[in-house]
Amino acid sequence: MRKEILDISQLDKSLLHELDAYIDSLKGDKQEQLIHVLHRAQELFGHLPYNVQLYVAHALKLSGAKVNGVVTFYSFFNEEPTGKYTISVCMGTACFVKGADKVLERILKLTKTKKNEMSEDGLFTIKDVRCIGACGLAPIVTVNDKVYGKVKVNEVDGILEKYRGDHHEN
Ligand code: FES
Repeated sequence: MRKEILDISQLDKSLLHELDAYIDSLKGDKQEQLIHVLHRAQELFGHLPYNVQLYVAHALKLSGAKVNGVVTFYSFFNEEPTGKYTISVCMGTACFVKGADKVLERILKLTKTKKNEMSEDGLFTIKDVRCIGACGLAPIVTVNDKVYGKVKVNEVDGILEKYRGDHHEN
């Protein structure tokens, strides 16, 4: 278990002030609004390093373990810095039986990265996620907001190339 000692020395104070202001502006039971606070914190800091999680925990009078449990449960929260494109591979049952694990493996190989870590070029973060409710299109891969359905392993190269290309054009 990680230590619950808050150290804000490395955190940007102006962003912490903005987060405080957001928390102050909330009406009603603030603990109930933990997810909103974490969303705002992620918007401000880009991701949710453990010290930001502890800061939120202190502000809302919750334990660090509780806040960390929420952050790790929801795939839209990131503890590590993320790449320009977040690639999510659905690992729900329907996608899994149609080969999502092979698709994920190929994506990790081509981006030379591990799950939940940013690729060295800063372009990609790869995640596996639970069923996103579109099982008829299994296996599903999303890249930021774009959804790719019935993805075959040999299509992965082309999908990644597209985003590498878009990046070079920018
Ligand atoms: S299992 Fe992948 S969308 Fe449902």
